[in-house]
Amino acid sequence: MMRPMFTWSPRQNLPFRVVAAALLALAACAAARAEIAGGRELTVGKHSMVEACAPCHGADGLAHDAEVPNLAGQNAAYLYNQLRAFRSGRRPHKEMLYMSRQLSDEDMRDLAAYFAHLPPR
Ligand code: HEC
Repeated sequence: MMRPMFTWSPRQNLPFRVVAAALLALAACAAARAEIAGGRELTVGKHSMVEACAPCHGADGLAHDAEVPNLAGQNAAYLYNQLRAFRSGRRPHKEMLYMSRQLSDEDMRDLAAYFAHLPPR
């Protein structure tokens, strides 16, 4: 029997096109604006990383889907540790594994600082 290339568990049912769009956004470093990450400037490339997270977590770090956690206002060290845990597989999650694989430690620190600094709901 043929096995499908991607299998989605019921808890991980975000449409593939959302993941694909996010990965494309992460790959394309074409944003013109810079944003502030906890006092530091997010570089042009980093800004497009935030855009890659936005389809699921919201550009303002507030998610619209109950399956997706809000990032805005969470502790920066916590967010950073979760990103590392996704990348290492210690926190297993298909989409976040794909996303975190594209990120360096420095990217994770900057993204964590950026989302931590946004106002929570
Ligand atoms: C395709 C949708 C999707 C994209 C794109 C995405 N995420 Fe996620 N993210 C999720 C889901 C779903 C979870 C919840 C995982 C779970 O249930 O364990 C999550 C969880 C997280 C968490 C853990 C939050 C917590 O409260 O424990 C962090 C941190 C995170 N994402 C950061 C990011 C960053 C940074 C990006 C952009 C580089 C990103 N995510 C892109 C879907 C996505």
